[in-house]
Amino acid sequence: MANTPDDKITIPSLQARKATGPRIVCLTAYDYPTAKILDEAGVDLILVGDSLGMVVLGYENTVPVTMDEMIHHTRAVTRAVRRALVVGDMPYFSFHLSTDETIRNASRFLKEAGAAAVKIEGASAKRLKLVEAMVEAEIPVMGHVGLTPQSIHHLGRYRVRGTAVEGARRIVDDAVHLEKAGAFAIVLESMPVEVAAEVTRAVRIPTIGIGAGLACDGQVLVLHDMLGFSTGYLPKFVRKYADVHGVIAGAARAYAADVREGRFPDDATSYHLKPEVAAELAPKKSASRKGRTPK
Ligand code: KIV
Repeated sequence: MANTPDDKITIPSLQARKATGPRIVCLTAYDYPTAKILDEAGVDLILVGDSLGMVVLGYENTVPVTMDEMIHHTRAVTRAVRRALVVGDMPYFSFHLSTDETIRNASRFLKEAGAAAVKIEGASAKRLKLVEAMVEAEIPVMGHVGLTPQSIHHLGRYRVRGTAVEGARRIVDDAVHLEKAGAFAIVLESMPVEVAAEVTRAVRIPTIGIGAGLACDGQVLVLHDMLGFSTGYLPKFVRKYADVHGVIAGAARAYAADVREGRFPDDATSYHLKPEVAAELAPKKSASRKGRTPK
């Protein structure tokens, strides 16, 4: 069951792509206008990632992002999307206290924000139980293994994972366990292509790679990175498809010059009174003023 561009993407139709192709196209989005553009461009899966914190909200990493921020931005995205599957990212500390709180938070993405699924980082035994509990509560879950950015304080810095045998095996096992726990797809972030290929062979659910090579069933990038809109460091795996930073800076400089030199606004960008109203409004030369023109 391959999708044509007009078909609404569902979890079963995405999963069918593993066998039939085409590869799954995923990007992040955080607001109404960009989500609308991506949806109309035929992106299959839109992830409202907690990368929101870094590329939109100006946080140093994803740790400070809150549930309310995620819900606010996911709502803007789902208002725009007609075809793509929208997945909301569970932010740090939204799934760390108890199963009940995890399900309550995850359900907000579906009930309040209109997403079809949630994504959760990691595959520890405790995390797998949460995945099972969410799936049991009818909340579709996407897993995320390899580099898990919410662990930044543990890791020290963002780096490629699974480069030695033990770490590579752990990633494959994590993915298999996530599938068993009921995840419908898994993000594979920052790992050697050989490891991602092995995971993709080992599971029956789609793998969505970011810095994980071509063997994955689909690819995701952070929108602001691929648009050339992000400021600061870009990982090696990002390909820049545009220079939005340059476009915005160029437009802002051109506008500033026009304002300073009196070229904006011009006649075409101004409103005018009808001549008779303008005449009525114009100061009249009254007899009592004896022809003096007010200054
Ligand atoms: O937050 C995010 O944007 C993500 C992607 C990098 C997969 O988790």
